[in-house]
Amino acid sequence: MSAVATSAPDAAWVTLNALIDDPLPVYARLRAEHGEVVWVPSVQRYFVLGFEACRFAENNPDTFAPLGGRNLVRKAIGPNMLTKGDPEHAVERSAVNRALRPKTIEQSWLPVFQENGERFLADVIEAGPGADLVQSFAIPFAAANLAAIVGIPEAGWAAVQRWSSAFIAASGNLLNDPDVWAANERANAEAEEHITDAIARVKAVPDQSMLSAMVHADLPEFLVRANTKLAIAGGVNEPQHTIVNGVWAFARHPEQRDRLIADPAGFVGAFDEVVRWLSPIQSIGRAVIAPVTLGGVSLRPGDEVMLVVGAANRDPSQFPDPHRFDAFRTRKPHLAFGGGIHLCAGTWASKGQIGRVAWPLLHERLVGLRPVDIEAARWRGFTFRGLEQLPVTWDDVRGGA
Ligand code: HEM
Repeated sequence: MSAVATSAPDAAWVTLNALIDDPLPVYARLRAEHGEVVWVPSVQRYFVLGFEACRFAENNPDTFAPLGGRNLVRKAIGPNMLTKGDPEHAVERSAVNRALRPKTIEQSWLPVFQENGERFLADVIEAGPGADLVQSFAIPFAAANLAAIVGIPEAGWAAVQRWSSAFIAASGNLLNDPDVWAANERANAEAEEHITDAIARVKAVPDQSMLSAMVHADLPEFLVRANTKLAIAGGVNEPQHTIVNGVWAFARHPEQRDRLIADPAGFVGAFDEVVRWLSPIQSIGRAVIAPVTLGGVSLRPGDEVMLVVGAANRDPSQFPDPHRFDAFRTRKPHLAFGGGIHLCAGTWASKGQIGRVAWPLLHERLVGLRPVDIEAARWRGFTFRGLEQLPVTWDDVRGGA
């Protein structure tokens, strides 16, 4: 990017705990004191904080590739598309894309999302005011939707959520905790059993699922298995966090919420602002595989970087007044779904289930929906960031089956 290369500034003051607790002040200080690309010893990676620098890295996979030796995702679930570059990645990705196009989401999956929404909304209503939105709605709704899209609905949302958590924990198991690997092995065994049955079923009767799309694109079976597990790993946590983040953000901005309730089509546009403002994935790891100068810093093959999309999504050069939440903001590309060849495959599925179903349904049926204590919400996480709970209340229940 920049012509003049220097050695990177060194931010020895950054701790992993500070990033997990509250990363925004850390990003702000990093940028103010060190610039857009800075070495962070506690994470052993260069942090890339600026929007253009992150976008450059995402759009140049011949220079910034998925992580190699330290790639725990591959160890956890097998050689999936997220761990590869093109052309191998493209073969797997195009097979999966068939099941996740906007038209397929609209025609095949929105009715399923709607049915799941009604089902789990009933649980929230039964639990009554004070219900935890994370446990009673967001987790089961996201996991049931994912089970359907992937092609293993009979596994049930609770198993899919358990596997997802085990895969994510193993993918981040830098301390090599043997219990985490043991749970990952159990989750693999259980998931594989369902995948085996589903492969036989879709071979006989094709359907709209991801699994069916991969099988009928003639992907080798080990790749069908690994990519199904990749979707399980990546397709529950972030939608779950986004649902809850949105409810919190709308309650925090009641005028915007009331405009959205008056015209629920706006929730789809609000989706992009929620994931920009409270990005459920804050950072994406990459390995440098060719010499490059980024943000004035020279990087060499073997270096590892953290694309801090949570910081890039608050970059004032891309988003005017970036810390303001504005559900009606003029749309500009953000990096909450990554970018380039690994841009999230579940973007449309997420937008559909949350912007078209979850938020309109929750706000239409639970009149006056809001957190019990809006100030008490506490986010955690640096790679994956979200709320562990959000007790909610409401004034009245409207309509319903
Ligand atoms: C709000 C919800 C979601 C967010 C914020 C999100 C975010 C992301 C991000 C940032 C990446 C890139 C990771 C990297 O480059 O290392 C990614 C990749 C991916 N996501 Fe999502 N995701 C979401 C939902 C989903 C869902 C519902 C599915 C499954 C239906 C899914 C499937 C995938 C897959 C398969 C990839 C790998 C794509 C590739 O390597 O080409 N995601 N996601």
